[in-house]
Amino acid sequence: MSAPASAELHTSSATGELVLEVEGLTTGYGRTVVVRDLSLSVPAGGVTAVLGPNGAGKTTLLRAVCGLLPVSKGRVRLFGEDVTKVAPFQRFARGLCHVPEGRGIFRGLTVRENLKLQAGGRDESRAIELAASAFPILRDRLGQTAGTLSGGQQQMLAMASAYVRNPRLVLVDEASLGLAPIVVDEIFAFLAGLPERGSSILLVDQFAPRALAIASTAYVMRRGEIAFSGTGKELLEGDLFSQYVQGSGSDTT
Ligand SMILES: Nc1ncnc2c1ncn2[C@@H]1O[C@H](COP(=O)(O)OP(=O)(O)OP(=O)(O)O)[C@@H](O)[C@H]1O
Ligand SMILES: [Mg+2]
Repeated sequence: MSAPASAELHTSSATGELVLEVEGLTTGYGRTVVVRDLSLSVPAGGVTAVLGPNGAGKTTLLRAVCGLLPVSKGRVRLFGEDVTKVAPFQRFARGLCHVPEGRGIFRGLTVRENLKLQAGGRDESRAIELAASAFPILRDRLGQTAGTLSGGQQQMLAMASAYVRNPRLVLVDEASLGLAPIVVDEIFAFLAGLPERGSSILLVDQFAPRALAIASTAYVMRRGEIAFSGTGKELLEGDLFSQYVQGSGSDTT
């Protein structure tokens, strides 16, 4: 991975600064409450993991942080500012990046076209160069339609947005879903390197050991609430890990 120009780097590091504070958040779909009175925070300069079984509300939480779902109670503070009523595109403009479940790439466009869009007004050739330096396979696939890439390559293309936009906080939803272990290793190595560039990470994943390996802080969600918060080590050593994470079934059954 080539080093980016230092002028582009965010300088926030492990100074106790919080890039995200969710306080007493209640949200859901229509009248269905999915996330209830949930609080968590993401420190600058590291990886925070939110783990939990199917249906726990992890994706719903990330959508609410982006502003894609209405908040019926509570607050979302991003980079020190209350954004509870701020539109999603304005949150993204402030330095938030969302790599959604299902990857969020334009499948009908080529890899090059996807990267140009991700550049969002920045230098497009530089964006392509950065993405290709992070995931060299993308360089060989620039003219290929994104929908015809392998699942792993599609995920790499989606992850590239977290590189080319140089965001302050990246929300990653299920980075490893359905991918071969070797590809998952590459993607997690990439994510683990993002804080060095000044991007803090909030990682939602079911593949707990890999997520915990790169996370400094961990939460476990269950039925829309936080069932655990602490360090990855504390989680691995506690009962909750085997109960809710390792052998995770579904929270909806
Ligand atoms: N668009 C929707 N409309 C109504 N209910 C929804 C919608 N999306 C999710 N839900 C419900 O919200 C609950 C939480 O779903 P969510 O997708 O947030 O869980 P998750 O923790 O991300 O699960 P997974 O690990 O399977 O991705 C589930 O009961 C689900 O059925
Ligand atoms: Mg989900």
